[in-house]
Amino acid sequence: MNVKSMLAVAAVAAAGMAAMGVASADQFRSLYAPIAPPQSIDLGKAELGKKLFFDPRLSKSGFISCNSCHNLSRGGSDNLSTSIGDKWQQGPINSPTVLNSSLNLAQFWDGRAADLKEQAGGPIANPAEMAFSHTLAIDVLESIPAYVREFKLVFKKDKIDIDQVTEAIAEFEKTLVTPNSRFDQWLLGKTDALTKDELAGYRLFNESGCVACHNGPNLGGNSFQKMGVVEPYKGNMPDGRAAVTGKDADRFNFKVPTLRNVELTYPYFHDGAANTLTEAVDIMGRLQLGKRFTKEENDQIVAFLKTLTGDQPQFMLPILPPSSDQTPRPKPFN
Ligand code: HEC
Ligand code: HEC
Repeated sequence: MNVKSMLAVAAVAAAGMAAMGVASADQFRSLYAPIAPPQSIDLGKAELGKKLFFDPRLSKSGFISCNSCHNLSRGGSDNLSTSIGDKWQQGPINSPTVLNSSLNLAQFWDGRAADLKEQAGGPIANPAEMAFSHTLAIDVLESIPAYVREFKLVFKKDKIDIDQVTEAIAEFEKTLVTPNSRFDQWLLGKTDALTKDELAGYRLFNESGCVACHNGPNLGGNSFQKMGVVEPYKGNMPDGRAAVTGKDADRFNFKVPTLRNVELTYPYFHDGAANTLTEAVDIMGRLQLGKRFTKEENDQIVAFLKTLTGDQPQFMLPILPPSSDQTPRPKPFN
């Protein structure tokens, strides 16, 4: 369904409910789905991928790992407006969470990577992020005997290559889902999982049309939409999806971000310009729907959004194998 028809559905449903004098939260239920626990994971691959996700030796400085910008102690994000890369470079864009990113239709704000495996090769070689090269990363891994043994065990090949690295990281990322949020408990039938205010926020979210773009299991992540449908956005504005498709119609379109765990992943929007959920909800209401929420309505929507925080991934901190005498030295300062 496209946005216009979804909005039409939302409007008709809202009008219908108003006419009947009931506001049944149930009408929209089927547009969402609870987050499922991780399924069919190759445990050996995921365990290796976890190490790689936390290993700063995949960066030139020996200091930056995937977890630096996607901190799993902080909702899989860095909580900065834009990320800090090699040599303290200011990143161009806000770092999205890696939590539940396996459910997205594509990766990155503009969707330029088809999936997690393709995505994982990007940051290692990005001069503004980890500033390494795939060859150098493989040299480092090949110099560490415990890694050589583990790769061989998992992939049954003689040599480590970047494909194995990105595949292992992607497998680990598939485990980073957050089931069991209070909203999911409610979806699954626990009627008292949400408070009165949270339910009021859920109704506003549906009836005012947020659901048109933020739907499915991730409440987002499944379409590209324009930022600034009714009013233009006044922040830093990259081309967005148009950078990938070359189509003018895709200018200022971004992958709709997931709202799962959104309480943890501040600041908001591609430029990280909105510091609080209150601000983000206000901007979304005005720019996407031409709607100004009262303070009470805004508070209720924010209360609903906070019910989307699920169980965070639980695991043992990976202990990384030590470098060997042959391991190339990190270059943090030159
Ligand atoms: C220097 C900070 C930084 C590092 C290091 C980094 N990332 Fe990212 N990551 C970002 C930023 C910023 C984006 C968004 C870029 C864009 O959309 O253009 C991103 C996007 C992503 C996405 C897409 C999520 C989505 O929903 O679109 C995934 C997945 C991801 N990174 C995983 C990784 C992995 C795996 C590593 C390690 C190999 C890594 N990142 C290293 C900053 C970083
Ligand atoms: C027409 C589609 C559309 C509608 C309708 C819409 N959104 Fe969004 N939403 C987006 C897009 C696209 C972004 C990313 C914009 C950007 O970063 O430039 C976004 C971003 C957000 C964010 C920030 C998430 C993050 O991690 O940065 C929140 C919160 C949000 N929306 C909530 C809402 C709420 C609440 C409503 C209803 C009042 C709503 N949205 C209506 C498309 C939409």
